[in-house]
Amino acid sequence: MPNHADIYANQATMYERLVSKQASLYETIQAIIPVEGLDIIDMGAGAGRLTRVLAPQAKSIVALDASESMLRITADHLGQADLHNWRTQVADHRQLPIEDHRADLIVSGWSICYLGNSDVDHWEANIHQVISEIRRVLRPGGTAIIIENFGTGSETPNPPDFLVDYYRLLESEYGFSHRWIRTDYTFESVDEAEMLTRFFFGDAIADKVVSEQLTTLPECAGIWWLQV
Ligand SMILES: C[S@@+](CC[C@H](N)C(=O)[O-])C[C@H]1O[C@@H](n2cnc3c(N)ncnc32)[C@H](O)[C@@H]1O
Repeated sequence: MPNHADIYANQATMYERLVSKQASLYETIQAIIPVEGLDIIDMGAGAGRLTRVLAPQAKSIVALDASESMLRITADHLGQADLHNWRTQVADHRQLPIEDHRADLIVSGWSICYLGNSDVDHWEANIHQVISEIRRVLRPGGTAIIIENFGTGSETPNPPDFLVDYYRLLESEYGFSHRWIRTDYTFESVDEAEMLTRFFFGDAIADKVVSEQLTTLPECAGIWWLQV
């Protein structure tokens, strides 16, 4: 399995190329809460897949991430779009550099999972700390939306074993509501599909792409949301 920490530090552009093959999440977020005029925080913003679609409608948006090189891509895109209502900052989910009650909406896509992986020491304490930070930073009535992997290569939910306890905790312990959606990848060619899937998902998925000559790779994402 590829080393994701190394990818976020050293191959941010390739990661961005991979996720550019998926449809925008804007309508999914908008269906939970209209984003116009909100102060938004994107936790684990990465190369800005969510930040970039939310920024044009937001009052303000702060893109936080552990990786400076991922945030540099976000900043480049927002600068090119001539937007001025944003900033980026390196931060860990467990200690947000934000004052209390500053945000109307927190989004986090495919990121808190790295702390909630049940193979990681203290994963439950990590999630407890992350949810405490989300509650601290949201204004009363604010909304948190967490998006995570619910099965790559799968047309129906098939979440990774090492994440199901984290997902269960979001609902049972912290009161999140849940649904799932499809977030399929549409590649230009089988060669591109193989290259990008091998880069991020590893040999099992890439070998399936090649043997089945796929240019579309199905994927499911879980969406969890909570109003505080
Ligand atoms: C799969 S990428 C998702 C990026 C973006 N949200 C998206 O939807 O494409 C995961 C991101 O989470 C960041 N990340 C991982 N662990 C983190 C932590 N403990 N605190 C903050 N960011 C973290 C990584 O640096 C990486 O940019």
